[in-house]
Amino acid sequence: PKVAALIVAAGKGERAGGVIPKQYREIGGNSVLFLAAKALLGHPAVDRAQVVIGEGQREAYETAVMGLSLPAPIIGGETRQQSVRNGLEALAATESPDIVLIHDAARPDTPPAVIDRLLSGLGAHIGAIPALPVTDSLARTDGSTVDRSAFVSIQTPQAFRFEAILAAHRSWSGAEPATDDAAIARAAGHEIALIEGDAALRKLTFAEDFAMSAAGPTPFPP
Ligand code: CTP
Ligand code: MG
Repeated sequence: PKVAALIVAAGKGERAGGVIPKQYREIGGNSVLFLAAKALLGHPAVDRAQVVIGEGQREAYETAVMGLSLPAPIIGGETRQQSVRNGLEALAATESPDIVLIHDAARPDTPPAVIDRLLSGLGAHIGAIPALPVTDSLARTDGSTVDRSAFVSIQTPQAFRFEAILAAHRSWSGAEPATDDAAIARAAGHEIALIEGDAALRKLTFAEDFAMSAAGPTPFPP
């Protein structure tokens, strides 16, 4: 099957702070976006990648992805959901893939084995997504206890059959909260397969996440 990667990089990275949005900042000499795109493009099953960027991010983008084989970027929207939609529409306008891997630019490290698990886990499903058990204890903000075994934390890349996820995005009412594409697929009535995620897929969200990536794990004893 034809597999395309869709990488959304149109956010402002407000929680991470800094002079430029987090996806254009460097870790060990390469931008976060470069690493995110390279990890997907480097997998033998992935045929091409499309990046979605924010208005006014064109220069930062060109510098960030130098050396990668990518088509012109698509402009995203106000929300992640809108950015994904714009990217899906752009893929449909060129040559629709069979499968799309929708990925956050803020996750620079995707182990190849995760992509293997996504593609084999997709099977007859519309979507397959990486999930990890919650390791910290969970509680409601009123302090009452929650059974954490009922929850998983969800990562990207997320694999979908292209026509189905495109249709789900087109029909999404926007009423329910949807922080990822699996939620949009579920809102359209699709069942989504969970595959085993990987700690390496963690999203760079706050300024301190960058310090941790640069230095590696904190040694113990310090
Ligand atoms: N994203 C996007 N378009 C938006 C918002 C987010 O393409 N309108 C992308 C981000 O660039 C990021 C991914 O979606 O790669 C996950 O979003 P998040 O981690 O929330 O990034 P930001 O929205 O940029 O960060 P923040 O919420 O802290 O401002
Ligand atoms: Mg955000």
